[in-house]
Amino acid sequence: MSNLADRLHHDFEPEMNNSGNRTFGEVVNARLDRRNFLRGGLGLAVTGIFAGPITACSAAREADAIASGPSLGFNPIPVSTADTIVVPEGYEAKVIYRWGDAISGDFPAFSPDNTGEDQAHQAGMHNDGMHFFPIEGEDPWQGSSSDGLLVMNHEYIETRFLHFGVTQGTEVTSWDTPDHRGPRNSDQVLKELNAHGVSVVRMRDDGNGNWQIVPDPRNRRITGLTRMEIAGPARGHAKMATLYSPEGTHTRGTLSNCAHGVTPWNTYMAAEENWSGYFVNLDGELPREHARMGVRTEVSRQNWHLSEGGEDGFVRFDASTRADSPAGDYRNEPNTFGWMAEIDPFDPDSTPVKRTTLGRFAHEGVVFAPTEAGKPVVCYSGDDTVFEYIYKFVSDGLYQPGVTRGEILDTGTLYAARFNDDGTGEWLPLVYGQNGLDESNGFTDQGDVLINTRAAADIMGATPMDRPEWGAVDPATRAVYFTLTNNSRRTPDQTGSANPRSENRFGSIIRWNEADDDQTSTRFSWDFFVLAGPQGDSRDLNGEPLDEESIFACPDGLWIDPDRRLWIQSDISDSAINDGPYAGLGNNQMLVANPDTGEIKRFLTGPVGCEITGAILTPDQRTLFVNVQHPGANTSEEDFAAGNFDSHWPDGGNAFPRSATIAIRRLDGGVVGA
Ligand code: FEO
Ligand code: CA
Ligand code: CA
Repeated sequence: MSNLADRLHHDFEPEMNNSGNRTFGEVVNARLDRRNFLRGGLGLAVTGIFAGPITACSAAREADAIASGPSLGFNPIPVSTADTIVVPEGYEAKVIYRWGDAISGDFPAFSPDNTGEDQAHQAGMHNDGMHFFPIEGEDPWQGSSSDGLLVMNHEYIETRFLHFGVTQGTEVTSWDTPDHRGPRNSDQVLKELNAHGVSVVRMRDDGNGNWQIVPDPRNRRITGLTRMEIAGPARGHAKMATLYSPEGTHTRGTLSNCAHGVTPWNTYMAAEENWSGYFVNLDGELPREHARMGVRTEVSRQNWHLSEGGEDGFVRFDASTRADSPAGDYRNEPNTFGWMAEIDPFDPDSTPVKRTTLGRFAHEGVVFAPTEAGKPVVCYSGDDTVFEYIYKFVSDGLYQPGVTRGEILDTGTLYAARFNDDGTGEWLPLVYGQNGLDESNGFTDQGDVLINTRAAADIMGATPMDRPEWGAVDPATRAVYFTLTNNSRRTPDQTGSANPRSENRFGSIIRWNEADDDQTSTRFSWDFFVLAGPQGDSRDLNGEPLDEESIFACPDGLWIDPDRRLWIQSDISDSAINDGPYAGLGNNQMLVANPDTGEIKRFLTGPVGCEITGAILTPDQRTLFVNVQHPGANTSEEDFAAGNFDSHWPDGGNAFPRSATIAIRRLDGGVVGA
């Protein structure tokens, strides 16, 4: 029996790739066959796909890569099932920003009576990707380590907690069933939309690791209702026209913001991941830009379009055809979601911009490669749905420090990744008029190619992956790392006998280097950094099983810090935590790895039912911010009704569990993780 959070999030996201492109597992199998590894000998086969430390670098970077790598000087902690945060000896973790905390002293405090409007001035639910912008506002990675704008995503909501168990004439807490077509209370809908989006909140350390919200004109909530501009080739496209914006230049809101990105010019990128379930289209036959994304056909996840007041901002989630032309209804509203939205946290009056050149899919996040003056801007983004793709963007314009702004993302080339049998890979350009991306396959122009990014990547022959989540780029070796969290739906005939990841439940971290040490190259070489899992079904960089200090599953969050420590965060689905194949792995956790030696050590374990996601250090590396999302999410309906939540973190007692941000520091004031 699965639970509510699963239904809201991933486990019921439908598989939508019917392209027949070869899966990653099939590629791995073919590659192993070519190398004549023994069929059926899983240990040998798995060892074969590890190339050891990456060697495809320049001489200088190679010297870095063969060094011993960053220190991991703490004592690793054991797995845990406790309803608390555990960090290594000599560290402390403090809760600093919970769902419902007011972002200014003038705004309403957290209470069961909070209205939809109150929620627009409080922390949203389900904290996820985040960045700490030093208050000077000049460089995203340099400046104050005690005062800055903490900017984070609020990925989704759990209705029964959001409304304190108060639903509308029914005990059922999800509207994601055909039984729930009645009108929805408008203030509840408002609260749900305002609990999504992004927080911009100034926070300051009092010198003792106590971070407090500072009233500041830049404190801001961006929600599912905030006005957004559309930029790039899909701006003004006929498929973007709506009643709200007949010209197709604007929309409202950003939703399902999972991981994030930080631009070299000091802005924040919010990714739109599992947004499609909020839309319904009752037309019967859906256009592919709806169908390929998973727009619903009967009821939507929250049925916002059924608000009792019929507010325009709510009914737009029904994308059925109603008027004579697209400018008269919201048939195109889903086409205005699935993008990366750029936010300038230092300008509270700025309108966020959806940068359509980066493609439309279930964006987990975006990670930028290190920039060089006079070179294009390069970034990577994964599409976190089973059998979907990894993408790379290369700008047409050349980066100019201090001059370049977000508009550089509006012209350039989006590529999808193909992983070849022999350890090489190719970036396949998604360009209108090339390789069948034209009228013969239903594309009318580049805007259409981007609105239908997945369909274009299908035609180009990209490799379907096991749910790409976060990425990270090693500043020394330029190796790009991506988590592939799991894909239990991969069938044996998609993998073959030699593939150890049939019904991939544990996930992996893949990495690659671009050919010729050129981040804009269209060729790369790849290998695995780790196959996650329990001791009996895992392999580290050296081909050894993970041990008690390092076992984990379902890698999701990923970040490389300035010293090149690779931080890994796990997201085992809450209903499966420490159960079934995940027994013995405990609560979700965070680990840190040495990218050169492959050493992995457990650094943090979370409370019951949560996932650990989002990690960022202050510039001095003395404070690490981490997000704890959906504690207590696996509470049964019976226990919920009785007030016996699986978790009462972070407030304790009988309190409702609340997603929250924590600040971690070393008691001796040293670098975190060192
Ligand atoms: Fe929202 Fe892909 O995790
Ligand atoms: Ca995630
Ligand atoms: Ca996840």
